[in-house]
Amino acid sequence: MSGDPALADPVPPSAAQLPAAPDRHRHRPDRAGDRAGGNPVLPGVGRSGDGTVARHADRQRLSIHAVRQILDELLPRRGPAHHHRRHQSGRRPSSRCPESEEPLVSVLLDVRGLKTTFPVGAGQIKAVNDVSFTLGRGEVLGLVGESGSGKSVTGFSIMGLLEPPGRITGGQILFDGTDLTKLGQEEMRRLRGRRIAMIFQDPMMTLNPVLRIDTQMIEAVTAHRPVSKAEARALARDALGQVGIPSPEERLNAYPHQFSGGMRQRVAIAIALLNKPDLIVADEPTTALDVTIQAQILAEVQKLTAEQGTALIWITHDLSVVSRLADRIAVMYAGRIVEYGDVAEVIGKPHHHYTAGLIGSVPSRNRRGSRLAQIPGMTPSLLTLPDGCAFRTRCARADGDCAVMPELTGQGAHWHRCVHPNTQVLA
Ligand SMILES: Nc1ncnc2c1ncn2[C@@H]1O[C@H](COP(=O)(O)OP(=O)(O)O)[C@@H](O)[C@H]1O
Ligand code: SF4
Ligand SMILES: [Mg+2]
Repeated sequence: MSGDPALADPVPPSAAQLPAAPDRHRHRPDRAGDRAGGNPVLPGVGRSGDGTVARHADRQRLSIHAVRQILDELLPRRGPAHHHRRHQSGRRPSSRCPESEEPLVSVLLDVRGLKTTFPVGAGQIKAVNDVSFTLGRGEVLGLVGESGSGKSVTGFSIMGLLEPPGRITGGQILFDGTDLTKLGQEEMRRLRGRRIAMIFQDPMMTLNPVLRIDTQMIEAVTAHRPVSKAEARALARDALGQVGIPSPEERLNAYPHQFSGGMRQRVAIAIALLNKPDLIVADEPTTALDVTIQAQILAEVQKLTAEQGTALIWITHDLSVVSRLADRIAVMYAGRIVEYGDVAEVIGKPHHHYTAGLIGSVPSRNRRGSRLAQIPGMTPSLLTLPDGCAFRTRCARADGDCAVMPELTGQGAHWHRCVHPNTQVLA
């Protein structure tokens, strides 16, 4: 990884947020209230860690280099992350900035020991297992890991959009002091689209194909705010303009199928941002898009969320994108966070061998012509995890000490779950 400019950048710019979520149950009558026409901003439930997502992700892997080049041009480079957060216009200081001389902002999201389980015939799939992290207002957290590591289920758990038989079996999700795991469906529905929102890889999960964009956007506003239809329409038009849709007044009259894939995702992002939520969970929203569009959307989302001061969880398999977008990274493996910390710390000095492997497998401009390092082996089945560190079957450094589950250890801006931490500096 040495010399990779994007990954080595000590100060990834922070984005701010994303749009609301799509309705994954658009065609399910029992979820009608979650779609445009009731709560159009919010997607229905469902899992996104499906085959489609994985296939798109794999296809895009070879384009990481291109994305990063474009991001280098679109996203401004900044100083150290904490410094940037402290002074960036429109953003509040990080809640995790122990060295800051400024007063710290309260934590917006505090996930504590979250466990989400899917009971299946063969046993209990612990998709999310004792996951903890915090997010301050306006902060961006990159949630990274291979397919099947539990990223989407973490996002759905926060949104209250888990699909049965999946259910939260432990822990707390404290959002502005309220434990979301204790709220009923109606309370969660009121929260979604107003204070928290989610966007998915497929914008049609958000959009209703048979309703005009203006109908969907107006309902997204009026479902949560006491404004007239005319005011809501004006807000919708402005939001379309903000996400780079030309002639927004005219485009409001169009149907989703009259937009390209990239433009549809922009509409979904605009819907998510409409009510200026405090938190957006974005589940690989640009992965399926052409790399140029992907980079443009990333840059726009970063700008808009920063302006609104929204916190953002950006779920991705793509470390290079997160290295430019996030303030902090949480690396997931087999349902657990194995490394967590400031982007520059984690990317530059990964302690967990899985993180080091992920970084080593990112294509780099400076390694053209050489073979990509790949993490050997496959992600283990969550039903047959080995005792101790789940990565031990793939880790070159594994020994008998790894047969006991390592605690999350560290301090300040960098935490890891490894008994023999990597000491190699990668950037
Ligand atoms: N609806 C479901 N039924 C059973 N298992 C599920 C379901 N959704 C997710 N899982 C389990 O949770 C794991 C994590 O899924 P997910 O969070 O979608 O992964 P990703 O990190 O790719 O987003 C999957 O590998 C699978 O074992
Ligand atoms: S705990 Fe052991 S197996 Fe797991 S990453 Fe560290 S050295 Fe490798
Ligand atoms: Mg997923």
